[in-house]
Amino acid sequence: MAVGFALSTFTPASAHQPVAILDTDTTAEKGPLLVDGTVSFATRATFSKAGQTRAFRAGLKEGDQLSVQYLIFDRKPESAMKSKQLPQLVITSPTGKKITIKFTERTKFFEPYSQTKYLYLARYSAPAEAGIYSFVATSRAKASVTIAVGDREVEGEVLRGPAPAPTPSATKAAATPTPEPAKTTEALYTMAKVKENDSASSCWSVINGNVYNLTKWINSHPGGASAIRGLCGTDGTSSFNARHRGQSNPTSTLAGYLLGPLEK
Ligand code: HEM
Repeated sequence: MAVGFALSTFTPASAHQPVAILDTDTTAEKGPLLVDGTVSFATRATFSKAGQTRAFRAGLKEGDQLSVQYLIFDRKPESAMKSKQLPQLVITSPTGKKITIKFTERTKFFEPYSQTKYLYLARYSAPAEAGIYSFVATSRAKASVTIAVGDREVEGEVLRGPAPAPTPSATKAAATPTPEPAKTTEALYTMAKVKENDSASSCWSVINGNVYNLTKWINSHPGGASAIRGLCGTDGTSSFNARHRGQSNPTSTLAGYLLGPLEK
């Protein structure tokens, strides 16, 4: 299996090493991996409209502290936006615990290296579990946000590249020789592939044009396993929208299971 990780550039030690989250970093697996999540990183994500996701991962060890700060530029449009309009950040721990970051403040902060004025909206800190945390931000309007992780001012390492294949079908496709691994990954999320994953042991569903792997959600759904089980292998858009359209909790939960856009 080709798991060609490419190393991104190092920047000199400074307050929060910048990391760009690309528009294609729509799932944690596609997004960059901050190898040591205790090092001070500032990830920057940009959204052009509501309903987009941007994601990355950070590695932590037993005994580490997970430290996350959510910042926006202290300028319009972000500074004029209500908390409800700003992208929602959901962090998933290595054991699957979900943390939805709540906006509790609007504190001014001047970052001297980049001469940038920010507003702190949230600061979160807790003892870390060992393993890879995923960070998924879901937009509710056009906006740009900075998610800072870690606080040790040393050089950090950022890895990018296709994540190890998550499903047997992905392994099959990854084994096919092709010079363009990114294309291969995209081509996985066709309706035909969704239909193959129609069981409780591998449950994919299409919702509003995106493909989700809901396998792990079946037994966690507050509305019962059967509601999710019924979506496996199908386009679940109408069922989901009928029950949950416009609800932030179901929408952000869903974002955590995103595989990618449905290939037409
Ligand atoms: C992938 C699709 C779905 C996701 C991610 C999802 C997510 C959620 C979440 C997060 C809640 C808790 C509500 C909250 O905290 O605000 C919830 C509750 C609920 N969901 Fe879903 N849901 C999905 C699909 C469905 C479908 C298709 C149905 C019905 C056919 C359904 C019926 C319900 C019901 C009835 C509740 C309320 C349970 C209660 O409060 O007792 N859900 N869902």
